[in-house]
Amino acid sequence: MAESMQGLKRTHRCAELSPEQIGETVTVMGWVQKNRNKGGLVFVDVRDRSGIIQAVFEEGKSSPELIAKAAGLRAEYVVAVVGKVQRRSGAVNSNLATGEIEIIPEELRVLSESETPPFPIEENSRTKEELRLKYRYLDLRRPDLQRNLMMRSRVATLTRQFLAEEGFLEIETPVLIGSTPEGARDYLVPSRIHQGHFYALPQSPQLFKQLLMCSGYDRYFQIAKCFRDEDLRADRQPEFTQIDMELSFVDVDDVIDVNERLLAKLFDEVLGVKVPLPIPRMTWKEAMDRFGSDKPDIRFGMELTDVTEVVRNCEFAVFKNAIENHGTVRGINAKGQGSMPRKKIDKLTAFAKDYGAKGLAYIAVQEDGTVKSSFAKFMKEEEIQDLIQAMDGENGDLLLFAADQKKVVWDVLGALRLELARQMELLDKSDYRFLWITEFPLLEWSEEQNRFTAMHHPFTMPMEEDLKYIDSDPGRVRAKAYDIVLNGNEIGGGSVRIFNPEIQSKMFEVLGFTEEQAHEQFGFLLTAFKYGVPPHAGLAYGLDRLVMLMAQENSIRDVIAFPKVKDASDLMTEAPTRVEPKQLEELGLSIAAQDE
Ligand code: AMO
Ligand code: AMP
Repeated sequence: MAESMQGLKRTHRCAELSPEQIGETVTVMGWVQKNRNKGGLVFVDVRDRSGIIQAVFEEGKSSPELIAKAAGLRAEYVVAVVGKVQRRSGAVNSNLATGEIEIIPEELRVLSESETPPFPIEENSRTKEELRLKYRYLDLRRPDLQRNLMMRSRVATLTRQFLAEEGFLEIETPVLIGSTPEGARDYLVPSRIHQGHFYALPQSPQLFKQLLMCSGYDRYFQIAKCFRDEDLRADRQPEFTQIDMELSFVDVDDVIDVNERLLAKLFDEVLGVKVPLPIPRMTWKEAMDRFGSDKPDIRFGMELTDVTEVVRNCEFAVFKNAIENHGTVRGINAKGQGSMPRKKIDKLTAFAKDYGAKGLAYIAVQEDGTVKSSFAKFMKEEEIQDLIQAMDGENGDLLLFAADQKKVVWDVLGALRLELARQMELLDKSDYRFLWITEFPLLEWSEEQNRFTAMHHPFTMPMEEDLKYIDSDPGRVRAKAYDIVLNGNEIGGGSVRIFNPEIQSKMFEVLGFTEEQAHEQFGFLLTAFKYGVPPHAGLAYGLDRLVMLMAQENSIRDVIAFPKVKDASDLMTEAPTRVEPKQLEELGLSIAAQDE
């Protein structure tokens, strides 16, 4: 039977109590973590989002009715306990923040009872994620998730505080809009009033924040929900949150400066981690050449080495063909892995094939200097030795090579490098290494669409010195775009925007937009730019990704209160759901195909 809390007022959260309150009468309210009945002596752990406090009901100190009531409590009952704080009579529990104290209750109220939960509410749950997500409200009671969400809230609060102090205005932009140019698929919302017409949910506030610059709000930010209908991964959700900002009268260095100070503040105040400033910068080209990735994890080395010239004249068909086809041969040196069993190397080969490799050539240098290799038989002894030397190979090293077009080789070795680092346990989650990647290519060739597409978005400013190539060799033009990378994750990205109408028209032309198409999609922005537009630039972080790394979690689901699963559904609300025929009718829609 639920009792009222009338007349009671919570004085502390459970773990806010400390030896300082010894002798005080306090009132805590929370959930029963567990109770242990030792015959007349009942220990009840009460939990709230701060942690746990132990209440001890014992003969002589609490009334027999109170002891009996405590003995009848079950896990997840919501209770109020009024009592005196005292030093623990039993052993101190050093695992608990409140391990030196306990409450001797004078009053116990059961505010609500609980059925047996489908899984225990505890740290490091081994319960399957599907079950946890179905009962997310229970899952969210677990201390790990509570810590994560409290950290997320703190990051948001500090961000607001910092940006406000830096003169940024927090402005909301609409969610029911037209299409945004971020390049993912839009989520569409049918209009009832304009039948056959659809809103798109924003993939980002990009166009609106640029318009706000035109309107003179010179520094804007927003903690904005964004929606992208793309395949989900551990670091991707269909709806996610950006810390989004835009600044007027600035260039790359100004955006980088304010963001470095923001990151340093967040890491210092939330984690006590000092981020050395300035954060290193690397051009996109250097990142690809050295790490095979535009978001390199620089917590470890194992960099790519270009050995094309070393093997140019060898007879090994795999290398020879790749070079003849204007490809490249590159390798990585997995230090100390020379004795890796053949089976494990085969697994790495299969892994490489998942990333587009045709195979994975290797040289395993044994401790005694002899060599095991998948291709030594096709090479002269001295060619193998030259190759080992070029790779800085020492006894006990495993050298892995990919031969293909540059892009494939980057993808394969970039991924392999990370996989090996995982296997070799080189990745320390508490080691935070930030890196700016700059000078991205402006355009990317799309085989699928047989045209150039914008690598960032169509409003990104080309580097002035590369503008001369925009007609003759568009692929060569670099952009004033930058990403902020943390431990191999792209946590944010942005660019300086085009504010010159001639360059913008040129950009649309290169992207294959006709003038009409450009106006149809972005007309309002292009028109706005005719009325005095300041030079501007901006950046957006994935807040979920940032907090995931700060909380040292593997998935952004662990820092989002109510996330979706891989097929973009919500296991708790069961969204998306079918709708009533009447609703469809009102919207003027009919369903052509239905999944069963
Ligand atoms: P971009 O598309 O790079 O840039 O997005 C910015 C950051 O948002 C995060 N992010 C995601 N996080 C979770 N799930 C997703 N599906 C997802 N997609 C992106 C990433 C990424 O770095 N308007 C531009 C920013 C600008 O130019 O100012 C933009 O949206 O961490
Ligand atoms: P094969 O002669 O096809 O048996 O290949 C010899 C070795 O080269 C094997 O270890 C293959 O995995 C590897 N290999 C095949 N294609 C490639 C490639 N494109 N790049 C690197 N290694 C390859």
